[in-house]
This record gives sequence, C-alpha cells and structure tokens, in this order.
Amino acid sequence: MKKGKKIYEGKAKIVFATENKNLVIQHFKDDATAFNNQKRAKIEGKGVLNNRISEYILTNLSQIGIKNHLVKRINMREQLIKFVEIIPVEFIVRNIATGSLTKRLGIEDGTVLDEPLIEYCLKDDKLGDPLISKEHMFAFKWSNKKEIEKIDKYLHRINDFMVGMFRGVGIKLVDFKVEFGRYKNNGKTEVILADEISPDTCRLWDMNTEKKLDKDRFRNDLGNLIGAYQDVARRLGILHEQSNIRPIKFTKPKAVKFKKNK
Ligand code: TMP
Ligand code: ASP
Repeated sequence: MKKGKKIYEGKAKIVFATENKNLVIQHFKDDATAFNNQKRAKIEGKGVLNNRISEYILTNLSQIGIKNHLVKRINMREQLIKFVEIIPVEFIVRNIATGSLTKRLGIEDGTVLDEPLIEYCLKDDKLGDPLISKEHMFAFKWSNKKEIEKIDKYLHRINDFMVGMFRGVGIKLVDFKVEFGRYKNNGKTEVILADEISPDTCRLWDMNTEKKLDKDRFRNDLGNLIGAYQDVARRLGILHEQSNIRPIKFTKPKAVKFKKNK
C-alpha cells in the first residue's frame, strides 16, 4: 500500500493517506507528551514498542468480536488502519483509583473499585480534556445514545479481556483510555475501536511490586520508560531478548510553562 500525503499529525502519531480512501497509514512517533502537551520529550524506541503492543492487543480484541480499525501492521512503526471519523471523547475505564480521579475527588490513591468505573472526557487539549457526562455528548452532538450504548458494552468487554490478559503476565490493569471512530463503508456507518492501546494509554502496575510499567514513568519523571515498555512487550511474548530496539536515550523535557490541570 503506497503512502500518500500526511492528513493529520497528533502528539504521538501521524496519519497518511493511501490510494484507498477507506484506509490510512498510522505512524507511531517517539514523541511523549503529558499534561495536555505541556511536558514534552522524544524517547527513542517508544513508537516501535507501542506499534507492536497496540497491534497485539487490537488483534486479540478483534478475535473476541471487538471491531477495530487495525488492518495489519506494515513495519516497525506503521500500521494500515481503517479511516474513521474520531468521536471527540476520551473513554476512560478505571479498576483502581489513581491519577486525575484521586486528585479530582480526593479518593485515596490505590483504592480498588468494586466495579469498573467509566469516565468520559472531551478530547480537547486546550480545555484540558474536561470530564463530561453522557448528556453533554448528546446535547452537543459529540455522540448519540445508540453509539454510546454500544461503546459502553465494548468498554466493559475490553476491560474484562485486558484485565485477564495482563493478570496472566503478572500485571495489574489499573486504568486505560480508548477512542472510537465512525467507519463509513458502502453507505453504512459503523462505530469501531480506533487509535491505540499501549502503555501510553494504560496504567500498568507490576502485580507484586506495583512498579509502574507505563507512561507515568514519563509523567512523574521515574525514568527508564523504554525498559518498562520492553518489559510489558516481553511478558506479552511479542518482544524477544534479541530486540533491535536500542536502550533508552532519555531527552530531558524542555523547560516549558507548567500548568498542571489534571
Ligand atoms: P488520568 O488519571 O490522568 O485521567 O488518566 C486516566 C487514564 O487515561 C490513564 O491510563 C492515562 C490515560 N490517558 C490518556 O491515554 N490520554 C490522556 O490524555 C489522559 C489525560 C489520560
Ligand atoms: N496525552 C495527554 C498529553 O499528551 C495527557 C497524558 O497522557 O497525560 O498531554
């Protein structure tokens, strides 16, 4: 599939057109951002790892009936995906309270939740991805009841599957964020899982030590992000010892105005 023009560049990925209007190429960059783009760095090897980990998870999800945008991984950094219109909502599922939930509501960090908690945030960096309700989504037509009914069901199934998958390799799935999009094909529109699922978009804690194996290593300056992502990939059986991903070169984030809004 020939790579065409760049049609979108986000914080961690670039999307290129192909000769098929329904398919695009998703390129994983090494850029890391946090706190809505206020903290930035390039972490060599991150894009390659996220490409592989996301491919693995999305392939497994499609095998249990969760339709998603992945067609196939093309190379170390790129995937062929279905071209969707992204629903401008970040769908967050939490099993253990941490991050913005604890700050916002004063819940004790590490509280295990009785049931998975779903949160919806408007996908808007300038506004700091504010928490919204279903009613906001319906009122402002960011989504509709039929779509959200399907997405809520998907969220629980994705969570159940991923909790089990990670538990099997000694990792607690603390929380994660996913995005959905509308795929238009042959006059039909279908909501499918899109974007990526990787240690950039999940919180993953080692079962025994609670060591953080996700982007919190960058957010909270814990160091060795690549070592942690490699550990996740290795445990999932998708990275073998002789990896050609070079060890970390951690570029210190540039001094930027730092306004923590989450
Ligand atoms: P939070 O506790 O900061 O709201 O994050 C909840 C989960 O969502 C966590 O796994 C990190 C993920 N996340 C993203 O993937 N992108 C984002 O922009 C934010 C704010 C969180
Ligand atoms: N993805 C968001 C950002 O780039 C926030 C985060 O992941 O913490 O700033």
